[in-house]
Amino acid sequence: MIRLGIVGCAEIAFRRFMPAVQNVDGIRAVAVAEEYDPSKLQMFKDTYGLETETKFSDLIEREDIDALYIPQPPALHFKWAQYALEHGKHVLVEKPSTLSLADTETLVKTAAEKNLALHENYMFRYHAQIREIQSIIASGRLGEVRLIRASFGFPLRAQNDFRYNKALGGGALLDAGGYTVKLASVLLGDTVKVDAARLYSLPGYEVDMMGSASLSDENGLTCQVGFGMDCHYQCMLEVWGSKAKLSTNRIFTAPPGFEPVAVIEDASGRDEVHLSADSHFEHSIERFVSAVSDQAVREENYREMVLQASLIEQIRQKNNS
Ligand SMILES: NC(=O)c1ccc[n+]([C@@H]2O[C@H](COP(=O)([O-])OP(=O)(O)OC[C@H]3O[C@@H](n4cnc5c(N)ncnc54)[C@H](OP(=O)(O)O)[C@@H]3O)[C@@H](O)[C@H]2O)c1
Repeated sequence: MIRLGIVGCAEIAFRRFMPAVQNVDGIRAVAVAEEYDPSKLQMFKDTYGLETETKFSDLIEREDIDALYIPQPPALHFKWAQYALEHGKHVLVEKPSTLSLADTETLVKTAAEKNLALHENYMFRYHAQIREIQSIIASGRLGEVRLIRASFGFPLRAQNDFRYNKALGGGALLDAGGYTVKLASVLLGDTVKVDAARLYSLPGYEVDMMGSASLSDENGLTCQVGFGMDCHYQCMLEVWGSKAKLSTNRIFTAPPGFEPVAVIEDASGRDEVHLSADSHFEHSIERFVSAVSDQAVREENYREMVLQASLIEQIRQKNNS
């Protein structure tokens, strides 16, 4: 049984992580820490029966804690993930793993040296719909794939949201953009690279608020991605083939119980394919649990994290070139 601590009373921890972890075998949330807002600690205690700490370091150093979930604003991921790894604890870190390729590589190096699991929580990647869409593509129903497009963006959130705060690691690329980049690498594979990218801000904001990029694999198959934080809601994947086009509109955020629908259009008309409902958060936690005991899974997770951080870095470089 992996005994887990939660580093911070984040909204995602309360609303999504806690309900999911209770359904996963081999792991149990034991305690939560919060440094600034005692009312949030009380909420976790009352709702989920967790023990509480008022310092992150005290939680991480507890002898009855084997692993930490880190749902902090991105700028704090590196500090607390590294602290946990250095104290011999496995780490499930929210996305993005850190703000830079160099920091992600440092985390991976520390985890590998200590044989610890380190897992970045891009949970949509573990939803059954991803495998089912890959099977449709592999079946040839769309013909040869000519182009992939993915978009993730949403209207403005509360003005104090960390996503608009540069010092906390905000910005559309690190937030919404990361999902689209991850999907591009899942669909294009290990040879994926960034060919072009643009990021831009909006008056009154210190972070990038919108962006787009073009990524391709070794054969030139291209995935265009778009992301934003002040736009009409989009959560879309489109796979355009020589015979048909597949599109689906809840690719990153399908909640448990929601049955995604893929629309396939070809010369003869339009077909709706019902994909499976699933709980991607549970599967992401399961993946973390298996990484704790399985070195091959651990190494695959390290590799995926470094690839993701490298693609984000390539987007910044292309934007500046
Ligand atoms: N995997 C996914 O699908 C998914 C979905 C949503 C979010 N996330 C990730 O999960 C993490 C937490 O996201 P969330 O939406 O749950 O965050 P949140 O609850 O808004 O913030 C998490 C913690 O950060 C601190 N914080 C938030 N805004 C702040 C501000 N403006 N100034 C100073 N501190 C601030 C707060 O700590 P205090 O109470 O101690 O001040 C809060 O408990 C992020 O890394 C995010 O990218 C992942």
